[in-house]
Order: sequence, then C-alpha cells, then structure tokens
Amino acid sequence: MQQPKRYLITAALPYANGLKHIGHLAGAYLPADIYVRYLKSQQRDVVFVCGSDEHGTAIPIQATKEGTTAQAIIDKYHPLVEQNFRDLGIQFDIYHRTSAPIHHETARDFFTQLNNAGHLTTQTSEQFFDEKAQTFLADRYIKGTCPNCQFTGAYGDQCEKCGKSVSPEELINPVSTLSGEPPVKKMTQHWYLPLDRHEDFLRKWILEEHANDWRASVVGQCKSWIDGGLQPRAVTRDLDWGVALPENVEGGKGKVLYVWFDAPIGYISATKQWAIDNGKDWKPYWEDKETRLIHFIGKDNIVFHCIIFPVMLQLHGNILPDNVPANEFLNLEGDKMSTSRNWKLDMEDYINDFIKAPGGNEIMADVMRYYLTQIAPETKDSEFTWKGFQVANYSELVAILGNFVNRSLVLMHKLCKGKVPPLHPDQLTDADREMLAAFDATRKTVEEHLEQFKFRDALFQIIAFDRSGNQLLQKKEPWIFA
Ligand code: MF3
Ligand code: ZN
Repeated sequence: MQQPKRYLITAALPYANGLKHIGHLAGAYLPADIYVRYLKSQQRDVVFVCGSDEHGTAIPIQATKEGTTAQAIIDKYHPLVEQNFRDLGIQFDIYHRTSAPIHHETARDFFTQLNNAGHLTTQTSEQFFDEKAQTFLADRYIKGTCPNCQFTGAYGDQCEKCGKSVSPEELINPVSTLSGEPPVKKMTQHWYLPLDRHEDFLRKWILEEHANDWRASVVGQCKSWIDGGLQPRAVTRDLDWGVALPENVEGGKGKVLYVWFDAPIGYISATKQWAIDNGKDWKPYWEDKETRLIHFIGKDNIVFHCIIFPVMLQLHGNILPDNVPANEFLNLEGDKMSTSRNWKLDMEDYINDFIKAPGGNEIMADVMRYYLTQIAPETKDSEFTWKGFQVANYSELVAILGNFVNRSLVLMHKLCKGKVPPLHPDQLTDADREMLAAFDATRKTVEEHLEQFKFRDALFQIIAFDRSGNQLLQKKEPWIFA
C-alpha cells in the first residue's frame, strides 16, 4: 500500500466520571501510543488526539452519588486522568475535553449541517417525565422493584443486585430518583439518524472493502449489527447536561445532543484545538483522502466507531476511518474488571505504588507497558495476573532484553571506547553474518506487525531477537578480552 500523506490517530475519549483502569490502558491508549511512537520514529506526519468525554447521564449521576455537581466532577477527573496517562508514558498531542466551547460549537454545527441537508428525521414518542421536577427522566433516574429478584432498589436500565437488564416499564412501583414521585408518560420529539438508509453503503464499505484488513472480530460485530436490521438512532435527549441543540431549531429547547453523537465529534474539535495551538491547519486531517484515520477503542465501542460515526462523517463530507483496531477485554486475576464491583487496578493506584512511592521508579511505567503489550487482548480476552507481571519483568524484560542491552553497552565501553566499531566484512564469522541478517529481518517483521496493529507479535519478535543476541554473546564470550 502507498504511504499516506498524514495520519490522524484517535483513542476513545474516556468518560470524566472516574479514574481509568489498566484494562482501558491495554485496550486503547497503550496500543495507540505504540503505533504513534512508531509512526513518529519514521518521521511521518501524525497527530494523536484524545480527551475527556464529559457528557451523557453518567456524569450527573456520578455527581449525585458524590453529592456534588456535574461540572465539579469533570473538573476533578479530567486533570487526574490526563496526568495518569502522562505518568504511564502516553504521549497525546492534545488531551482535549468535550465541555470546551470549541467542541460545543463544532458539534452543534455538525448537527445543523446534517439537519439542514435533510439527513436527520424527527419522531415523537412517549417518555417518562417527572412532573414535580418538570423534567424528562433517563432510564437511570427511575428506580423500582426488580421483576426478576424483587430487589427494591433496581434502576430503570439494570438491576444491580441480580444484574438483569430491565426497562423502566418492567419495574414494579417505579419512582423518579429526583422527586420520589411515580413518573408519568409524556410526548416528546427527538431527532434521529436514519441508519436504515445507509445499509448499502455500510455493507459495501465494511463487509466488502474492509473484509480483510480489519480485525475479524470487528467485521463480525459489524456484520451482525447490519444483518440484525439497522434502525434510526435518536441523536438527541431531554437532558440539561450536554451540547444544547441550536437555538433556531424548532422544538429543540431543553434538549441536548445524545452523548454518543457529540463525543466522537470530540476528535474533530480536539484536532481543531491542536491546530490552533500549533499554528497548523486541521482541515486536511479530516477532509483529505490522503489522511489515514485510525480509531483505537475497546470492543464495547465498535458500533459507534464502525457504523454510527462513519455514517455521520460520510454525510458531513469527512474522510472515513481506515481501520478500527478494537481490542477485547482484559480480565484481572480470573475475573472481569468492573468499576461497579470495584474489581480493577486503576492506573492511579499502580502509579502511586510502583512509580511515585518511596523506592518506586519511572521505569515501572515501561514494565507495565511491556506486560500489557505481551498480554494485549488483541484477538481474545486476556488475563492480568501479578504473577504474570512478575515473570514478564524478571524472565523477559530483565533476563533477556535488559541483559542483552546491558551486556552490549558495557562491552562496547570496555572494548571499543564506547563507540560502535566499524564492521570489517572479512572478519565476520558465519554466526555474525546470521545475526546481522536476523537483525534486518527482525526490523522488517516488527514493522510489518506494527503496520497491522499486531503489537504482541511485534514484541515477541523483538524478544526472540534479543534472545539470540544473548546466545551469540554467550558463544563468543567477548568479555574474555575485557
Ligand atoms: N466515553 C466512551 C467510553 O468510555 C468512549 C467515547 S469514544 C468517542 O466508552 F468516540 F465517542 F469519543
Ligand atoms: Zn434483580
């Protein structure tokens, strides 16, 4: 494939309602960072954007839980999460936020353009409403008795006790969590993205054109969405937290864009802000076909990045992603990581215990990056264990890579005055020649793996090379000359 003129790399915008764990790191941010470092090492034109996703019902709900405001929540977590990424060596070109005015403006304009061009439809439906609080209620704001296990504190989207997904209609004796009153039903109008109009485009683009270069799990998930029948998706909500609809839209008062409509547009507004900060032009990154756009995400975000956002981009006249290397999940010591069950390893805890604590060391960021790449959940869910972490560190990072680099450097100082000596082809043994050939071959294979987002394989090749380097040293014993 011909080399693209420029790259735009995105990593999913994390919700700014809490700390992020190493499953998030392994799933999106670390592979994205490795890919970006590789591209930059090749002097390619690349911008790496990320930032906080600060809308949706998750944020005000978190605020209620912590007895504070949504604004206070995002202002607390945005800088914390950004610093955690920095401490683990993730080098974004910009870590933006969707509460920024430039984002609200960009998202609103995007909506307006699609709406004016007739790409959105409207529909009126009944929604739960709190008459006392005078507000529509998201499912999470309704509580009642679980029809499955009779737990009295089940939410309108899920029962936390038995785990069953429920709808507010199924709850017994539902009440609004805002006023404690039973909710009533009220008609409301919303704007929809009619995905059903775009089935042909999606089929051709994903299932034909990208059948071979996208991960099989990604294509598979898209296929089942498409085969299941695409429905119009609401892109607005009755909520007071989010990007308000443009004022001139009739019937739009009191409504905001659905978080999954505005958040991916956050990639565009982040690029705009990066361009302003660096005296660059953002447009080619989103409009020129010679840009390669790659979204790094976890598998729970596939439908949004492979189906919904591409339809939006296409209708808006933007380029489409070239690949969406979604990862599976990382489990922790035999169990699924979960924030609600508090079974997780936060980046922050790792940083505090291994990097910032007395006796800690910055290099522990690389140790974590190494292990998470070795077990990267690229094709199936994988498992983080502390034992595995320890073994990876001692038996590979230290014993193979560290040992090889260290011995080579020490010997070079002792025997060659700290400089790589010139090669004398006539003095090379067969083993030397093999090693030099292996070096070129390894570099080539590693690059191929990286280009195809196979980070585990790339790492494996590097370690295999270091292992043979150690064997060569062992055989030649150059230290006898020192
Ligand atoms: N906040 C979402 C999550 O954590 C990801 C948003 S990605 C974006 O699952 F594209 F919408 F920004
Ligand atoms: Zn239940």
